[in-house]
Amino acid sequence: MSVLSGKKVLLGISGGIAAYKTASLVRLFIKAGAHVQVIMTPASKDFVTPLTLSTLSKNPVHSTFFNQDEENEKWNNHVELGLWADLMVIAPATANTLSKMANGSCDNLLIATYLSAKCPVYFAPAMDLDMYIHPSTVASFKALKEFGNNIIPAESGELASGLSGEGRMAEPSTIIRFLEADLESKLPLKGKKILITAGPTYEAIDPVRFIGNHSSGKMGFDIAKSAANLGASVILVAGPTHFKVDHSLIKVINVVSAQEMYEACHQYFGEVDVAIAAAAVADYRPKNVATQKIKKAADNFVIELEKTKDILASLGDRKKNQFLIGFALETENEIENAKGKIQKKNLDLIVLNSLQDQGAGFGKSTNKVTFIDKDFNIEPMELKSKEAVADDILNKVIAKFNE
Ligand code: CTP
Repeated sequence: MSVLSGKKVLLGISGGIAAYKTASLVRLFIKAGAHVQVIMTPASKDFVTPLTLSTLSKNPVHSTFFNQDEENEKWNNHVELGLWADLMVIAPATANTLSKMANGSCDNLLIATYLSAKCPVYFAPAMDLDMYIHPSTVASFKALKEFGNNIIPAESGELASGLSGEGRMAEPSTIIRFLEADLESKLPLKGKKILITAGPTYEAIDPVRFIGNHSSGKMGFDIAKSAANLGASVILVAGPTHFKVDHSLIKVINVVSAQEMYEACHQYFGEVDVAIAAAAVADYRPKNVATQKIKKAADNFVIELEKTKDILASLGDRKKNQFLIGFALETENEIENAKGKIQKKNLDLIVLNSLQDQGAGFGKSTNKVTFIDKDFNIEPMELKSKEAVADDILNKVIAKFNE
């Protein structure tokens, strides 16, 4: 999945011949899963039509401060557009537009939006070779870099003037690759390794029966996806679940029993920075597993159970620098029980679910959690989707690395 997936991209197009390539650029953004809104300078409409770009971006194209052609004349709010965007890309960026950006000459919607945008800004210059090296252009580049804007370097090659040299706008595919690489390098969990357990475990009684629980695995899978989207490499040790995940940064290890989960976790724990135990591990398993299907006979039937290993506590024992997060599912004395688990399992943070809270627990798409850290600071959270809870948990991890 591209790091651009779900991102809101504001594409500013200024008036150069390379504007014709923005049709492909918009296509590539959409293909990567981004949401695109286009702002055109008046001059750019001589090179590519707003209709083409609105069709490809699936959004109206913005160009003037007012939409005169609309029934109810509507103001294009540059502040709103600027705040909407996760990133702004100006391509092609002509010498004229770059100069206006550098000097704040706000005479069109694109520049007004640029000045309002709080998100990262990228620009892909496009001009003839002599314009590209003119001190005025070089001064614009310098100023824009000082503002924190990112230049997507122009390429060398044949130019519209017939001359050959540096100044050609980077190809759309190069622009996309540049943005992906830059965004990936800035992800907050880039370079971190996280072990996550998810789902239930099944403890065999005989070849066809088991003791299990109703955990769906959703919480652990949501944490894994969120961690990977933040740049972490994830090892997801999953008990039996119907959830699947396809992400280049997530390695799934499928297990069935608590013992298998224990072994998989210990195989990887030494190499990770963070471990998050979201699995609902069986606390007991049948002491003897029948090799053949058990036939019904007596009216009463007793299965002797023995304790499984506490995976999280065993990771707590082995812990060196790892940030260790556990879950606690409680029905009474929630805070006290959770605090006890922090100490017993040597945790840095516990995510407490109380079954007394509406919307929390197994099989639900929402969760209501309370964070308790190892110093017993208590932070109750709102009822949220499990995806949002996953983000909250990873914000705690990010905060830990920024300490
Ligand atoms: N856990 C684990 N291995 C086990 C049991 C639990 O790793 N054999 C982990 C869970 O993934 C969770 C945390 O321990 O992160 C708390 O699990 P919970 O069942 O609430 O606590 P227990 O320690 O099993 O205590 P109890 O069932 O008595 O509440």
